[in-house]
Amino acid sequence: MESSTTPDTPVVSALRDSHESAPPQGERNPSSRPSNTRECVVVLDFGSQYSPLIVRRIRECGVYAELMPYDADEDTLRALNPRALVLSGGPSSAYAPGAPHPQRYVWEGDWPVLGICYGMQLMAQALGGNVEPAERREYGHAMIHAEDAAGIFADLAPDQDVWMSHGDHITALPPGFQMLASSANSPIAAMGNAQGMIGIQFHPEVAHTPEGMAIMRNFLFEVCGLRGDWTPAAFIDEAVAEIQAQVGDQRVILALSGGVDSTVAAALLHRAIGDRLINVFVDNGLLRLNEPDWVEDSLTRLGIPVRRVDARARFLDALAGVTDPEKKRRIIGETFIDVFEDEAQRHAPVDFLAQGTIYSDVIESRAPDSKAAARIKSHHNVGGLPDTMRLTLVEPLRKLFKDEVRTVGEELGLPHELVWRHPFPGPGLAVRVLGAVTEQKLHIVRLADAILTEELRAASLYEEYWQVLAVLPDVQSVGVMGDERTYDHLVALRAIESQDAMTANWARIPHDVLARISSRIVNEVPHVNRVVYDITNKPPATIEWE
Ligand code: XMP
Repeated sequence: MESSTTPDTPVVSALRDSHESAPPQGERNPSSRPSNTRECVVVLDFGSQYSPLIVRRIRECGVYAELMPYDADEDTLRALNPRALVLSGGPSSAYAPGAPHPQRYVWEGDWPVLGICYGMQLMAQALGGNVEPAERREYGHAMIHAEDAAGIFADLAPDQDVWMSHGDHITALPPGFQMLASSANSPIAAMGNAQGMIGIQFHPEVAHTPEGMAIMRNFLFEVCGLRGDWTPAAFIDEAVAEIQAQVGDQRVILALSGGVDSTVAAALLHRAIGDRLINVFVDNGLLRLNEPDWVEDSLTRLGIPVRRVDARARFLDALAGVTDPEKKRRIIGETFIDVFEDEAQRHAPVDFLAQGTIYSDVIESRAPDSKAAARIKSHHNVGGLPDTMRLTLVEPLRKLFKDEVRTVGEELGLPHELVWRHPFPGPGLAVRVLGAVTEQKLHIVRLADAILTEELRAASLYEEYWQVLAVLPDVQSVGVMGDERTYDHLVALRAIESQDAMTANWARIPHDVLARISSRIVNEVPHVNRVVYDITNKPPATIEWE
């Protein structure tokens, strides 16, 4: 699909102002203007690890959903015009001092409310029921028996396998509520009233509840009467209108890293403001084989101009002889800022800086009880620009999950292969060449990565994995080639499965595929005589080696 080079007609009349909650750190100008017609469900986050998953599941049902902190103020929440609220689970006890409780308006609005686990217990307590510690903690699979094949259990068999994880349970229903289902350990495993207040003790959002999605759909469509016509692609028109409203006739500079998020952001912004978007693509010499050409060609083919800055020498000079992983990361971050500042000057005046921030970045930066975590690595991406640049942020993807970003990218006409590429770290191949970075070592790791990727694509396995990588440890070993002794480099391969990169399992690449990859690497990549496979999960390892 071709993207137009002129801005689309703004649908500004379909927009209305919204008041966001306090922006996460680093956000200078968040914007969220929901259309009046878009159905939205707000999930209030009480600290469950599953909260973002609830949002995802609702979106998968075709209803736009957003996560908000449990104590979101009423104006902020109402600005989204929610058609229903969902209260997530959480680690607390509803009766414990200091436990998080929603504000009163949650119970008084004219919206249906679904309370999941702790959310159900809050509902019971707030509306006059009773919550107590259960004799036994219920964790894992449980069978519930539904009283009625209606409402959230419409069209479902009465006995359902569900996933439970709770220590408290409900011992008395609030006035006006009916018991909807029970289990051996939870006499009230689901409850509801005529106003669409529903509590469920189990977790429909996790895959361990086989009919979880059917229960979720029943809540959205049977109980709330929603249409379910939202798709990530429908997001495009709305985002285009938002960008146009935010930017007016000003210019925007985008630091294009070549990664999926910033490339999709570039395509979306270009659709909104055409050539008032300045895409600065810094070739730092640390990218994958043919990556700079590929990214530039793909965007150019869509009529999106890219300003490619050849900063390879600048980065490699700055990295010369540096072996400490953190120092490498710092140098790359600083060099990037220097290069980008030079470019911004060249294109001045520019008022806006666009970034490919996505929803997981936003959620992580405002987790309700995020505690200061030990610094494992100083991750950086192109977002770490200094405040002195005085640019206002435009973040058109800040409400989308990674796979939704990919759907939008495809809808905007970006090639499938580019959109479904694996995540790639900001410091690029510099953190996959252990020790000092040189052109020769980059060349080795680049070729090995290309072979790994090519063979996995050929075996239709590439998109099965979260990420695959080739690493060049600073190690040489003895080998024999022909009749000659060799003393040459070792390449390590890594393939992992993950949902969010926070934890990861090493992937079981079939041995015959590994054999092909290994044989090709030792034959085709100069100065490599040995290939090893990394079989470590995260934790204790990290995904990247540095
Ligand atoms: P680790 O190695 O910390 O990586 O387990 C988790 C995920 O993050 C990617 N990664 C980065 N991404 N800037 C980024 O944008 C960085 O500095 C960076 N370092 C690691 C890594 O590839 C994996 O997907």
